[in-house]
Amino acid sequence: MKVAVIGTGFVGVVTAAVLAKVGYQVWGLDVDAEKIAQLKAGRLPFFEPQLKALVIEGFTSKRLRFTIEYDQAISPAEVIMITVGTPSAKNGTADLTYVMEAAEALAPYLQDKAIVVIKSTVPPGTNQLVREIIEAKSKREFFIAAVPEFLKEGSAVNDSLNPDRVVIGAEEAYVVKKLIALHRQIGGERVVVSAESAQMAKYTANAYLAQRITFINQIANLCERNGAKISEVIKVIGEDKRIGSHYWYPGLGYGGSCFPKDVKELAAYAKSIGEGQGLLPKIDQLNEERMDKKIKEFERQVGGFKHKKVAVLGLAFKPNTNDLRSAPSLALIPYLFDRGASVSAYDPKVKEAALRHFPGLILGQDAYQAAAQAEVICLLTEWPEFKTLNLNQLGAATRPQAWLIDTRNLYQKAVVEAAGLQYIGIGNG
Ligand code: UDX
Repeated sequence: MKVAVIGTGFVGVVTAAVLAKVGYQVWGLDVDAEKIAQLKAGRLPFFEPQLKALVIEGFTSKRLRFTIEYDQAISPAEVIMITVGTPSAKNGTADLTYVMEAAEALAPYLQDKAIVVIKSTVPPGTNQLVREIIEAKSKREFFIAAVPEFLKEGSAVNDSLNPDRVVIGAEEAYVVKKLIALHRQIGGERVVVSAESAQMAKYTANAYLAQRITFINQIANLCERNGAKISEVIKVIGEDKRIGSHYWYPGLGYGGSCFPKDVKELAAYAKSIGEGQGLLPKIDQLNEERMDKKIKEFERQVGGFKHKKVAVLGLAFKPNTNDLRSAPSLALIPYLFDRGASVSAYDPKVKEAALRHFPGLILGQDAYQAAAQAEVICLLTEWPEFKTLNLNQLGAATRPQAWLIDTRNLYQKAVVEAAGLQYIGIGNG
């Protein structure tokens, strides 16, 4: 089967490389000539474990190619996947401009019975919109389906090869059969539903996970007031099989490229159809407020940030990525600079980009160098190497009795204190 993937952003490159790996001839297509030139040279615009090797493997097998020519990619394709970005529009709903542009551009090159799959996160109803755009420009018989993407940054290749489920949003038996065949080497359950349900499910999954994080953050706030420990609370509730203990860890709120955007979009979509007053806008509001509240709380606890030397460990929004979108570092570091603090940082994968985002930031070669002479250390990202820090070495590098603000609850208070540091965690009363 020949496949075209339109939009070589994060999801597009991963999808194209994975489909090439499992045996298909894949064209990755983008209107950005510079991006395509970089990809052809094997350079990825972002870091993602295993992905570069997979792209190179695709080149070697001659199954993966990149182009800016719609004709080249679409004419041979039996399946066309749209993976373009859907940023939030001014009113908060998904801006479908790139999806519509892709639909218009692909239409003249469609072969008969081609299947156009929308993988981008879009509201239910988008398939009909895309259908009308293509019909206006093509006389071919074609189909539209929704196959939403659930991969996580940092484990995208594995998530794509072994997802929990492959959701096929299509009604026609021909399309369902073709898309099941397309995914035959991919793991996970097959769930066949309508396109509307598939697209609704994508938003629902992200909004549910986002509210779960928001919920546990609220409970963590209460624990901080009453002597309870959030880790123990999670241990107890996790034994309830209806609840479970995974995906519950508290912090400074959810970030990244998906949750903040998808919750806002679902809330705006709900509002646009007269269902706006419920839980969804509240999740977004609580998450938005959290960072600011916590920063101010930490500031009080450490006796002020003014003119202090502060070390930040972890700049990316989560481990195994260099993505800074909605990362805690984006809020904290400018706040520290405003207070006249001197800020040093270390992140295993965010290097020069950090200096563009935070002029004046001092980059350390490792956690200990970043922490040298610090009065406060803010651990923001749970990178594996931050889980096994030598606390004695850290304590020796900092000023005496420096604070460790552990926003990912990686350490026990007593152990940190034994290394000569003072400790602040999340949700530990
Ligand atoms: C998410 C979804 O998991 C994925 O299915 C979807 O396709 C895209 O959005 P991603 O943004 O890559 O993936 O990361 P994820 O690991 O889900 O974390 C999102 C945010 O929630 C991060 O800021 C993370 O730190 C935070 N989080 C996650 C918590 O604060 N606590 C948790 O228990 C889990």
